[in-house]
Amino acid sequence: MSILKGTLSFLGVFHIVCGELSQYSFPDNFQFGVSSSAYQIEGAWNEGGKGVSIWDHSLHSNPDYVLNKSNGDIACDSYHKWKEDIAMLKNLGVQFYRFSISWTRIIPLGYSGSKVNEEGVKYYNDLIDALLAEGIQPFVTIYHWDLPQTLENKGGWLNESIVEDFVYYAKTLFELYGDRVKRWITINEYLQICEYGYSSATLAPFLNLAGVGVYQCSHHALLAHGRVYRLYQNQFKASQKGEVGSVIQAFWCEPKTSSMDDQLAAEHYMQFNFGIYAHPIVYGNYPPIMMERIEALSDKQGFNKSRLPRFTEQQIEMIKGSFDFLGVNHYTTILCSFNDNLPQPSLDSDCGVEISQNSTWKGDSLWWLRHVPWGFRKLLVWIKKTYDNPKVIILEGGWSTDENDLNDVDRVQYYREYLSEMLKAIYEDGCSVIGYAAWSFLDAFEWNSGYTKKFGLIYVDFGSANRTRIPRKSFNEFRNIIRSNRIPNSSVHLEIYLPVFYIILCYLLKLI
Ligand code: BGC
Repeated sequence: MSILKGTLSFLGVFHIVCGELSQYSFPDNFQFGVSSSAYQIEGAWNEGGKGVSIWDHSLHSNPDYVLNKSNGDIACDSYHKWKEDIAMLKNLGVQFYRFSISWTRIIPLGYSGSKVNEEGVKYYNDLIDALLAEGIQPFVTIYHWDLPQTLENKGGWLNESIVEDFVYYAKTLFELYGDRVKRWITINEYLQICEYGYSSATLAPFLNLAGVGVYQCSHHALLAHGRVYRLYQNQFKASQKGEVGSVIQAFWCEPKTSSMDDQLAAEHYMQFNFGIYAHPIVYGNYPPIMMERIEALSDKQGFNKSRLPRFTEQQIEMIKGSFDFLGVNHYTTILCSFNDNLPQPSLDSDCGVEISQNSTWKGDSLWWLRHVPWGFRKLLVWIKKTYDNPKVIILEGGWSTDENDLNDVDRVQYYREYLSEMLKAIYEDGCSVIGYAAWSFLDAFEWNSGYTKKFGLIYVDFGSANRTRIPRKSFNEFRNIIRSNRIPNSSVHLEIYLPVFYIILCYLLKLI
């Protein structure tokens, strides 16, 4: 049995390295980066004049929200160790580093018009200057889930007044850092903020307003994004010459069977989970299928108007085309099947789709995360077709493990094969993808999973006071990819050695 296992794993490793990988080079000007976010890596939750965010507040008042009662109070301690981080980024060779700014470090009270915290300003000034000194472009996320608790106390993303608070915050950042930051992301992953934060109590602020909170939050977040995009266009673009976009998370949804129903279900899933944001940003309004279905269901359920708010004509004009690039986070593919009997009201029942995973696709650490590289290509082609081939930057993609393993061959395989499919989408399908950032630079606080799920190219020892960092095998692989500007074909070497391996194996098995 163990000989059989050994043989299979040998063949598995051989397949990993020798699988059919694209031989294209990355296009000229293609950029590589790595991503992180403030709450997940900075720590120092109450240092340097920082205010309290919804994550600080929720996890201090109810530690059970997260596995092992962990929180981001210290995380990777990047607030103190940023110089070490930059040295590692330099070693990795990335062209950009995507990080987020902690709203409460800059504006501790959160409110529009309230004071700016100089110590917080200095932290990001130092970080940005040091990155630029190493030739690494700062790619800044304005909001990655750490809302000031003061704003949550008045309803957070459910209260339209948050739009003014967000515009004030973003304007402050453009004024402070826009001379050096040339790429801005307004909001990271609207659906995760709104569905998981306000409709299914999985992420802060852990509210459960199913089928209602998700749409109110999304509506205000889209308005906030649109206003900030226009603000930059009107007041900063001419002098700062930067670009503004936002990031939408996208699973690829594969129909569970070839039935017409499941094919339609897959399209519905894409519209309700990706189109809900991309359609307004590109075309000005929600996807028609969403507006129709939610209005009809709301009526049946006794609401006197659709649970999906409406944009005014003026708002549609403001949001339409509010992107210089479309930021996409892509990790995996799921299966979709038609189901009109899901608990109501909810985003899923509005969509009429049940999702599941295919147990034959490789996966281990998170139920939803499977190794399906071809799904990435299908997603890119779908985006091209649905949104008229926008300029896309992939701002997250990665593989999680439960182990600390430095020899992370599965993550290596993930990047090699996903990047290979992306190259095919670029060269063979004509998709405009201009950059890719790995999630994540470091192992980090993985939200409700705490520190149990590891995505890092760099291992972090959370048991050590120093939060020791050690690069994994995937770090070297990613560096090789960046350096050679293609996916290095280690298969050449293996092919040479294959007969030797085979003879040794047969000898061990006493077959010859
Ligand atoms: C988020 C990250 C998160 C990652 C892995 C993305 O949805 O932007 O903050 O750590 O997924 O779950």
